Formats: sequence, C-alpha cells, structure tokens
Amino acid sequence: MKVISTVQNIIPYDPKKYSEYQSLESGHILNIGRDIIPNVLLETHQEVWSPTPFAINMGKIIASDTCHNKVVMDFATGSGYLAIMAGKQGARKVVATDLNPTAIQMTKRNWELNDLNVEQLDAVVSDRFEALKTNSDIENKFDLIYSNPPTIPELGEKTEKRSGMDWNIDGKSGRITLDTLITEGRNFLKPGGEMLIGTSSKQGAKLTCELLDEYWGKGIKADSENPLDYSLDWEKRGNANWVVIKRQDIPFPYYAEFLDKFRELAKKTNQPAPFIEKKGTLYQKIYLIRAKNS
Ligand SMILES: C[S@@+](CC[C@H](N)C(=O)[O-])C[C@H]1O[C@@H](n2cnc3c(N)ncnc32)[C@H](O)[C@@H]1O
Repeated sequence: MKVISTVQNIIPYDPKKYSEYQSLESGHILNIGRDIIPNVLLETHQEVWSPTPFAINMGKIIASDTCHNKVVMDFATGSGYLAIMAGKQGARKVVATDLNPTAIQMTKRNWELNDLNVEQLDAVVSDRFEALKTNSDIENKFDLIYSNPPTIPELGEKTEKRSGMDWNIDGKSGRITLDTLITEGRNFLKPGGEMLIGTSSKQGAKLTCELLDEYWGKGIKADSENPLDYSLDWEKRGNANWVVIKRQDIPFPYYAEFLDKFRELAKKTNQPAPFIEKKGTLYQKIYLIRAKNS
C-alpha cells in the first residue's frame, strides 16, 4: 500500500467543494469541523473515498447520538469518518469494515490522528459482512450500525480499482452493498439496536423502501410517487420500525458518464425519477434512514 507519510496541507472542509476532495493527491488533511462538533481530521489517499455531504449529514446525526459505551459498526468506512465520529462520541468499541485494504489502513491512521485509543478500533477488510460472519462473537452484538455504502453501477466490464471513485462502483445495479446492509444488517444488531444508512434517489427509492419493509418491518412512506420523499424526527415515528430522518437535494457534479445508466436502471425497475433538475442544475435526493431491530 502506498501511504504517504508526509502530510502536505490542511484543508478546512467546504461542503460545496466535496467533489474536488475525491481527486486530491494523497497526504492532505481534511479538517471537518466548521459546523460539526466534534471536529475530525482525515488524511486523504487518492485510492480512498473522502466524505461528501452524505457522510457529513450522517456525522451531524452521530454527533447528537448517544454512542457512549456502545458497540458500533461503520460498514464501508472509507477513510473512517463515521467510525471516528462514533469514537469521539464515546463508543466503547468500533468495528470499521471496507472492501478496500487501503481504506482500512487509512481508517487506522485517521483514528490515531484523532487521538483515539487504538484498542477501541477493529478495522477489518471485508466484502460486505463476509469477514464478520466467521466471527460468531460478533453477530447480534452491535448497538449501532452506521453506513454510507457505495452507490454507482458498473458501466461495462469490471476494471482494476485505482481511485476512491472506482471503489464506489458496486456491481451492475450499484446497490449490492446497500441491499446486503438492509437484508443482513439486522442479524448483527442487539435487540433494540439501530442502523443509520445513507442512500440516494439514483439507487431506486421504491426498491429501498420495499426491502426495508420486508426485512425491518413496517416503515413510514410518503403518500406520493416517491415513498422516501419526506423526513420525520425519529421520536415521532410511533410504531414504525424505519423512517427517513433527513432528506436533502444535493447537486450531482461528478459521474456524469453514469447518468444514462441510472436513468435506464430506474426505468427498467419502475423507480421514481433518479434526479431532479432545478434552474439547470441536476440534483440527486439523499435520504438518511434509521431502522430499529425491534
Ligand atoms: C460512498 S463511499 C463511503 C465511505 C465512507 N463511509 C464515507 O461516508 O465517507 C463507499 C465505501 O464503500 C466501500 N465498498 C465498496 N464496495 C464494498 C463492499 N463490497 N464491501 C464493503 N465496502 C465496500 C468503498 O471502498 C468505499 O470506501
């Protein structure tokens, strides 16, 4: 692995510039802390995904979560941002997973950069939950799962993954990892444990909604073509087992070559529009969904 040991530059994180952070040379440090407490420092690596507004929104939610003394999983951790947020919020143990071995190295490095105790992190290379399944101590042991999984479909044949962007490609549908999280995540939670996931309109809102209903029980749906088009405080969910707790439109400035593919997939599977256009700018809708193992 080519980890750079001399850090070149500290960059205050600017949400408007998020797409630029994916093409940074290795060795910069992103300082994510302008409007989020606690502050997190993240060393970048060009083969590892850097946080976008998906993750920053999740970080804001984790900042108000009660992680104290909890056992937390950050599934598909990238550079470790959500894992570190949980650590800073007082988690007793954090298990961070990613398919990309360089991401796991950077997560360990970034954990230490943020002065967290190395004994409290278990960072594991894993294709979805595969590496965790061999550890029977781990099933049903988590209080919380946080995940911002990959979202992009393959365009042609599989190619070697060279950049953080390449690692965000996830099979023909762009949602293999998301589907695994929804169909298997519950097995790793304690009774009463909760999962917080990020997903997008480009992945197919109806498909996400149907799977959540099937594997987590009744959730709250919008009374419109797009069942995830709403947001509600978690405390106001009543008997529902899952709910969209944050919904936001964010510009879609990169992956332009994938636009037709997203539209084709949405049409084929009868999904609501994957993008919306406002004043000439294309937006995706992001949904942060919380689900409970009740
Ligand atoms: C959108 S990035 C999110 C990274 C980080 N959680 C964040 O929010 O900044 C998706 C991550 O999923 C990882 N990934 C891709 N396929 C995976 C798989 N099959 N199993 C586990 N992780 C995977 C990628 O390496 C990448 O780090």
